[in-house]
Amino acid sequence: MDRFLIEGGHALQGTVKAGGSKNACLPILVASLLTDDSFVLHRVPNLRDVRTTLKILTALGKKVSFSDGTVHITADGNLKNSLPYELVKQMRASFWVAGPLLARFREAVIPLPGGCALGARPVDIHLKGFERLGAVCQNESGNVILSAKKLEPAKITLRFPSVGATQNLMMCAALIPGETVLENVAKEPEIDDVAAVLNKMGAEVASDDKGRLIIRGRHTLHGTEHTVVADRIESGSYMIAAAACRADVTVTDCVPEHNSILLEYLQEAGVPLDIGGNFVHVKPYCGSLKPMRIRTAPYPGFATDLQPQWMALMALAAGASEIDETIFENRFMAAPELVRMGADIVTEKTIAHINGVKELTGAHVMASDLRGGFSLLIAGLCAKGTTEIERIYHIDRGYENPEGKLNALGARITRYNPDKDEF
Ligand code: EPZ
Repeated sequence: MDRFLIEGGHALQGTVKAGGSKNACLPILVASLLTDDSFVLHRVPNLRDVRTTLKILTALGKKVSFSDGTVHITADGNLKNSLPYELVKQMRASFWVAGPLLARFREAVIPLPGGCALGARPVDIHLKGFERLGAVCQNESGNVILSAKKLEPAKITLRFPSVGATQNLMMCAALIPGETVLENVAKEPEIDDVAAVLNKMGAEVASDDKGRLIIRGRHTLHGTEHTVVADRIESGSYMIAAAACRADVTVTDCVPEHNSILLEYLQEAGVPLDIGGNFVHVKPYCGSLKPMRIRTAPYPGFATDLQPQWMALMALAAGASEIDETIFENRFMAAPELVRMGADIVTEKTIAHINGVKELTGAHVMASDLRGGFSLLIAGLCAKGTTEIERIYHIDRGYENPEGKLNALGARITRYNPDKDEF
């Protein structure tokens, strides 16, 4: 399996171009199941999770091609409505095919996604919503069997603003004639991008003044062409990396307001920024980083997907910081690996206590999830000496060519496979 070798301490300078959002393109690709028309998506990042999603669409009967950031999807009319476990176990987001398949076939058999490193990750909110739309949900030998004599529009209140459940229910309701109202929905920018695609396909999806999602579904939806919104998590990850290395880096082609709370916290911690319409310039600074107490929250709160990266930054702050991870029950896996690099972090339940240190030192560490993996990359960039990161396939799930983007700034990162490469 591939590893990264990082020579720390090199000055970073230049620009990083943000790619298309992984967490927008995955549900949007799944939305292509709502029609047999051709469907074209631009600015699709070449990531493991994207390739897994294309395998899922192919397994369901779609014809897909992917080159230079554009995906073309067509169908010859014989869509399947069940998915092999092999594919679902690789990526939890594959459960999002449930909504479109239920809407099209009134019956779908989807393996229940297991938990992952972040926690149990149940899908009860998805299933409760499908039941409100008229489906019967059964759990049989690890599969969820969804069936409905008739699907009816409904008013659904989510017990928690789940991103996946919001998207799954939106897509299902888009093919149910009438008005479905979703309350207490997720408000992440990726939801807006999915809504924009459903509107282009002929549904009517809009937020009302109470922040509810109103979906006026149709009997059939047509194909469309769309360009994915910039990835706010990738953008934010590079901004934090630049801040940790006290570098002079501009992240371009991004949407700064999608990272507004991160930008606020970086400035509060003492990192000078220039913020433009589609770029953020992280500027070098000499003063110490101010320790902060933050908590993750649904958008527009601080993104849980930027929490491990923020932890790596606070490991170098001048004093005691705290992170309260309110979204996932187990998202501090990077902490013990950062401690191996000299960080002073103690975690208890959902709180991480971080005492900043002067310097981190390179070490042999292991990634266990995609954002935690990037946090180790950040630590390796600013550590003294060499860091080796194992299991970087986690990082490849969410970041396209991270070593290429960072080496172009002056980093020294080598990707190698000890089983294959003579190193
Ligand atoms: C999406 O996951 C993202 N994934 C995650 O990004 C992100 O961390 C998460 O939203 C929160 O922002 C994609 O978009 C592909 P949730 P999702 O449903 O939809 C609980 C990354 O790093 N929950 O909002 O699965 C759940 O256990 C990934 O790119 C239920 O209890 O997240 C979790 O504690 C990691 N029942 C919380 O809600 C449900 O039915 C948030 O989950 C659904 C969720």
